[in-house]
Amino acid sequence: MKIIDLPSDFIIRDFQEKDYDEIVRFWQLTDLGNPDRGDTIDIIRRTLDLGGKLLVLQLKAEGRICGTSWMTYDGRRIMLHHFGILPEYQRKGLSKMLLKESLKFVSEKGSQVKLEVHSGNLKAINLYKKFGFALLGDYNVYIIRDISKLLF
Ligand SMILES: CC(C)(COP(=O)(O)OP(=O)(O)OC[C@H]1O[C@@H](n2cnc3c(N)ncnc32)[C@H](O)[C@@H]1OP(=O)(O)O)[C@@H](O)C(=O)NCCC(=O)NCCS
Repeated sequence: MKIIDLPSDFIIRDFQEKDYDEIVRFWQLTDLGNPDRGDTIDIIRRTLDLGGKLLVLQLKAEGRICGTSWMTYDGRRIMLHHFGILPEYQRKGLSKMLLKESLKFVSEKGSQVKLEVHSGNLKAINLYKKFGFALLGDYNVYIIRDISKLLF
């Protein structure tokens, strides 16, 4: 197995449309996305048009995508989504590289940043706390997925 030389073996760059299929597989592998969430190429485009960013961590040699960080912007805050590292590349410090780059974007934007993480996801919670994220408190998160059933 090739020894990975961090961080010079990797680049972090903006999403390109040709990445989409690989990214969808990556999100399925890391439990970050499924068809119910509706993360289509059109939605990605729209979030980028609205001033968001989708960062891709890529292994230079093979071109393999090993991580993503998707930041959407609603004019008020940045929401960090789909942050993850491919399982076989975890525990090598790559998430720290990717989160640092993501927070550079937050700083450029000058907005607050928010995220949702499952209360049992201690790996991610440890990471986010290390970078200064604080628990907001006793909030439950609600969503209407099926908008054909809106009650109005
Ligand atoms: C959470 C995740 C992004 C961490 O990525 P990673 O590249 O393995 O993390 P790193 O090696 O950069 O470690 C960063 C920090 O994360 C925490 N962490 C990572 N793996 C951990 C583990 N197995 N147990 C506890 N803490 C862990 C630690 O605080 C670590 O800092 P340290 O090395 O100084 O102890 C990765 O596990 C992942 O992609 N999980 C699946 C997707 C996911 O759950 N994303 C978050 C959605 S909100």
